[in-house]
Amino acid sequence: MVEGLSRRQMLALGLGGAVYGAAVPGETHQSTGCKVGEMTTRSARVWMRRTAASHRLANGIVRKAHNKDARLLPPDTRIETLEGSAMGAPGYVRVVYKGGPSGATKWLEVNEAADFAAQINLSGLRPDTAYRYVVETRATRNGRVDGELTGGFQTLPVAGRPAAVSIAMLSCQMYCHMDRPDGFHLYESIQRDAPHFLLSCGDNVYYDNEDPIANSEAVARYHWQRMYSLPTLVNSLRHTGGYWQKDDHDVFSNDAWPTMADKRMAPFTFVQGQRIFREQVPAPLTGQPLYRTVRAGADIELWLPEARDYRTPNDDPDGPGKTIWGAEQKAWLMKSLRASNATWKILVNPNPIVGPDRTTKNDNHANPGFAYESREIREFLKSNFDGNVISFCGDRHWQYHSVDPETGLHEFGCGPASDEHAGGTPGLDKLRHRFHRVLGGYASLEVSREGGSCSLRVRHRDVKGVTVYSHTFTRKG
Ligand SMILES: [Fe+2]
Repeated sequence: MVEGLSRRQMLALGLGGAVYGAAVPGETHQSTGCKVGEMTTRSARVWMRRTAASHRLANGIVRKAHNKDARLLPPDTRIETLEGSAMGAPGYVRVVYKGGPSGATKWLEVNEAADFAAQINLSGLRPDTAYRYVVETRATRNGRVDGELTGGFQTLPVAGRPAAVSIAMLSCQMYCHMDRPDGFHLYESIQRDAPHFLLSCGDNVYYDNEDPIANSEAVARYHWQRMYSLPTLVNSLRHTGGYWQKDDHDVFSNDAWPTMADKRMAPFTFVQGQRIFREQVPAPLTGQPLYRTVRAGADIELWLPEARDYRTPNDDPDGPGKTIWGAEQKAWLMKSLRASNATWKILVNPNPIVGPDRTTKNDNHANPGFAYESREIREFLKSNFDGNVISFCGDRHWQYHSVDPETGLHEFGCGPASDEHAGGTPGLDKLRHRFHRVLGGYASLEVSREGGSCSLRVRHRDVKGVTVYSHTFTRKG
């Protein structure tokens, strides 16, 4: 027996002859699943939530409408009557894990203040290692343990060693645009690909332009419940660690900045949206910025900028003082990009820099409203890096590969999570576009070495995982 593990935990982890993933007796109380994020070479952060029931509410009141048809809930609506609700319940949570070293965390109490969710840091892990885990919950401190949820994740390879790494990147999942009753094809496709990790780069939920419009913390949390209790998401995220970024719709409202007001959403605020995002996904600790880097072996490092928390109002006049990233983040970005010796440096901004975008938009670096900062960053990349910084983005509801005619910066938009959510493109731009497809899907990145050269293969995939476009960058060394 592994020290500290019960017979039942041993079985759940596949130790002692049991098959990994086999059903564990007892009803689970984790209808919103679990998520592992913020993996480093030595640590990972596990998000857990105890729920009242083992499944989301299947037969409740359905609220699905988009844009101008989206409405507020009637004031007396109880969230637990809504389809897809997965109400939290008080209790205790912990993680038991195996992969060398093995261990079990302390029990942590969960309560209403943080929506019955908790995050536990696993430390002292081994680099580039597949871990398996069991999330346990129970109602009382010394009570019976509920049915368990099993899963797995991988720690990152160390910076000094070349390693083959694969990544899946997705964005823009709207509930009323799901492409199957249990969620999204794309999550099943990603689960089948089994990447080292996934990047969900914003618009994880839509507070403002799909029904019900979030005007309270309870409604905002309902958006997370109904999305992350979908079986395709629960199953995929149990087996793949990830990093989550937020964008406008999953912090507040369309094209949001911190001082923006949205009368329909009152009294819900941007600050509440910021807090709920950190509550609902594995994220850096409160007080630490959400912008961070992910280094996965010798050949790839990713920068995950934060695109909403530091921006000046979109409608300010453009110029040197106007910013999306803010001075501090921009200094961090430039300094850390210069300091990195990774073969490929990947800038995963939630929003586009190259675009092109449609002319009616004014909230990103591909729009005229932020042209000054856009040129500053593109010129910086051109003069400091020999083409080995590549831009990726979510947010736009079409898939594309474009190249900036001014600086040669390559950009890949991963596309929306379903075909139903695609649209809004300005159309094919022959000057910039190498690829342009107005349907859903995701992007996959694969880094590998062969015969003294290192390649980065970028593929656009449709929602079923079929490759619809591929581009490979190669460098010697
Ligand atoms: Fe979006």
